Amino acid sequence: MKEFEIKSTVKECSIEELSPLDRHLVECAKEATLRAYAPFSKYYVGAAILLDNGKIVEGSNQENAAYPSGTCAERTAAFFASSANPGVAFKKIAIAARTSSDPSKAGKEEFQNKPVSPCGGCRQALLEYEYLYGDIEVLLFGNDKIYILPSIKSLLPLAFTDF
Ligand code: THU
Repeated sequence: MKEFEIKSTVKECSIEELSPLDRHLVECAKEATLRAYAPFSKYYVGAAILLDNGKIVEGSNQENAAYPSGTCAERTAAFFASSANPGVAFKKIAIAARTSSDPSKAGKEEFQNKPVSPCGGCRQALLEYEYLYGDIEVLLFGNDKIYILPSIKSLLPLAFTDF
């Protein structure tokens, strides 16, 4: 029997350590949480995707009384980005989440302390664009620290790709 390891490298840093562009992308993701529609979970997620043409496309989670009909922030952003900019590569995605139900209180203390990580379905959806266009860097915001991963595939080893 063979055995092999699957490794992912995660960089950990503070907001101050980010480049101005990465910091801006994280701020866009935080801002996008304000546009979430999450009356059921009260968990407000924002995602911001940097496109190869320099545009930043934001998305937030949009819930529905019929729960499975809602979408996560990452997929909202990805589908919005791709439908408005077909054929344009995704370079980076930043994600942030807060728990307050009061948008006026979207200060630092309202954001999740640990880095927010995308769900499995969003990893699979984002991987599709990574296969099309190349690696997408991932910035996961938390008040305490930010995680940076080099690609979506590093978040989804042994992904479903062939059908
Ligand atoms: N959610 C996201 O927007 N992104 C994720 O990666 C995980 C979960 C949303 C879905 C739902 O609206 C709420 O967070 C609670 O699960």
